[in-house]
Amino acid sequence: SPSPMIDPFGRSITYLRVSVTDRCDFRCTYCMAENMTFLPKRDLLTLEELERLCNAFIDKGVRKIRLTGGEPLVRKNVMQLFRALGQRIPQGALDELTLTSNGSQLERYAPELFEAGVRRVNVSLDTLDPDKFRAITRWGDFNKVMAGLEAARKAGLKIKLNTVALSGFNEHEIPELMRFAHGEGMDISLIEAMPLGEIDEDRSSQYLPLSKVRRDLEERFTLKESGHATGGPSRYVNVEETGGRLGFITPLSHNFCASCNRVRLTCTGTLFMCLGQDDKADFRECLRNNPDDDNAVHAAIDAAIARKPKEHNFELDETKSRVAVARHMSMTGG
Ligand code: GTP
Ligand code: 5AD
Ligand code: SF4
Repeated sequence: SPSPMIDPFGRSITYLRVSVTDRCDFRCTYCMAENMTFLPKRDLLTLEELERLCNAFIDKGVRKIRLTGGEPLVRKNVMQLFRALGQRIPQGALDELTLTSNGSQLERYAPELFEAGVRRVNVSLDTLDPDKFRAITRWGDFNKVMAGLEAARKAGLKIKLNTVALSGFNEHEIPELMRFAHGEGMDISLIEAMPLGEIDEDRSSQYLPLSKVRRDLEERFTLKESGHATGGPSRYVNVEETGGRLGFITPLSHNFCASCNRVRLTCTGTLFMCLGQDDKADFRECLRNNPDDDNAVHAAIDAAIARKPKEHNFELDETKSRVAVARHMSMTGG
């Protein structure tokens, strides 16, 4: 297998996150404005082009691919891409194919995902209250997501919940969310809200530092550092009382960029070398100008990795509400 790509700061780049669509069937208030202008379909790479590009990254040493969005399962025929990439696992070319999903369509897709080679899925869940769920997603159906989680479990998929910690929304519900996750045998990661894209609310009023959440949890639970690592930014603890695992994703209060191993591809073929930076590399023209030759694509990947920045430049001052990065999470894929 190829040796891994090394960026200018000595980090091995082995993880590719692919936003297969910027669209979503929800509009979580911290993620999107209610009225979003989505990309015109003609700007999207085809699924065949995405497959070719993912394979070029695998040729260059990527070992883990996560499909995200938007909501990856709303992209038409996306299972075709899962199946194609899943074939690289038994070939020994890829270690893991996974996805981050809002869960709304998992009930339908879970068995096919497992069949394609997916073994883990990360599902966003910010509350256990159906009314609050409808409010935060603007129209999402909580029971559909619960059915999706159940279907995923039945299909044999391991589940990690992702919960964005939001001041005044779920601050007091976090112990309950954790108990729920651990009771069902799921991991759960808490995420600090990041200033990505314009939304209809004031971000500074939503921001809840996880250092505070952790202090509150430690009054009721015993948290022990865990060696568990998935190659993602989550720092895990074991919770003695529940026997489960809890992760903290703290881009603002604690920077994890020194061990970054990933880059992000959008559905238009743009590569972002960092979630929190504007520099990008376009692959669409390169793909289309070299239909039968991947050498140019490989060279373009090398050139992009050589520009990977040291760290994100989110506004670290929590009191400021300015948008640090203009693109929404749904464009760059989390
Ligand atoms: P595993 O560790 O494989 O389970 O996945 P992950 O945590 O890398 O993926 P997931 O999609 O669950 O990521 C959860 C969230 O963490 C993302 O949606 C982002 O909000 C955040 N995140 C992931 N990677 C980065 C990163 O490189 N930088 C920043 N700032 N945030 C990230
Ligand atoms: N900050 C932090 N997390 C976000 N997500 C979406 N937008 C933001 C943001 N601005 C989360 C979703 C999902 C994951 C992909 O990213 O809730 O769990
Ligand atoms: Fe959709 Fe996820 Fe954004 Fe919610 S957080 S609007 S589910 S992409």
